[in-house]
Amino acid sequence: MSEAAAIADTPRSGPPPGKEAAAHAQAGISTDVGSGDELASPQQDAPVLFLSGIERHYRQGDAVLEILKGAELAVWPGQSVALVAPSGAGKSTLLHVAGLLEYPDSGEVYIDRLATSTLSDGQRTRLRRTEVGFVYQFHHLLPEFSALENVMLPQMIRGLSRREAINRSTELLNYLGLKDRLTHRSAELSGGEQQRVAIARAVANAPRILLADEPTGNLDPRTSERVFGALTQLVRASGLAMICATHNMDIAARMDRRVTLKDGAVVELE
Ligand SMILES: Nc1ncnc2c1ncn2[C@@H]1O[C@H](COP(=O)(O)OP(=O)(O)OP(=O)(O)O)[C@@H](O)[C@H]1O
Ligand SMILES: [Mg+2]
Repeated sequence: MSEAAAIADTPRSGPPPGKEAAAHAQAGISTDVGSGDELASPQQDAPVLFLSGIERHYRQGDAVLEILKGAELAVWPGQSVALVAPSGAGKSTLLHVAGLLEYPDSGEVYIDRLATSTLSDGQRTRLRRTEVGFVYQFHHLLPEFSALENVMLPQMIRGLSRREAINRSTELLNYLGLKDRLTHRSAELSGGEQQRVAIARAVANAPRILLADEPTGNLDPRTSERVFGALTQLVRASGLAMICATHNMDIAARMDRRVTLKDGAVVELE
């Protein structure tokens, strides 16, 4: 049972107001709150992630920077979405909101049709831990730990036994071509290897959504190609939904969809 299902009996807010209802209908999300039972199993015919009317601003002294202004985005299971927009447009902000790392100022983030704004901090953390994986431009691995330990850690935090965590981490790292690097400390790995460990760590708890923020941004073109190849292979094999912020148009062209941010709104490209 998914974490979303486990907390599906959490009190939710009432149906969204009229303006949002059309978007919800389009996204296959019922605005009827219902009994909660319909949330008990993941729906393939509904987006696994739905951002609805997301507003996000930052205060800088007296000025208010409006970054996201009613951003809407629905991502279906198994779908990969490239987020291509100029620096400062709000890509990282959108990913942080989608991954429950930041609260939007208004709007709603639905994960598996579960409205997340009414969850407690603990519930958000658990949902994030089980349903969402993150890959950053700079890997953020723990330098003193081995590749294997870096991938084991999130699983052990989640409560898996050491043995189970070792098995799954080994399998993932083998899959990503790092069979001979398991015991290397992350500081002893190349940039491309570090990013592949970071990908393994992000999917270690079998999330349903992968959010990648310029995952190949600091790699040379060839290594970038390799890491991206590993990423897409994994995404396809596991039916993950992915949003990947990138400046690389070749990489974007190979994803299922391309979107950009324009004046704080998500706009479909092509
Ligand atoms: N905590 C913050 N306080 C104030 N302003 C912020 C904060 N975080 C982000 N911003 C501003 O919001 C805007 C969007 O930032 P964001 O990091 O989302 O851009 P981005 O599209 O990811 O850019 P890049 O391609 O350079 O990574 C930027 O102008 C940034 O300066
Ligand atoms: Mg960014």
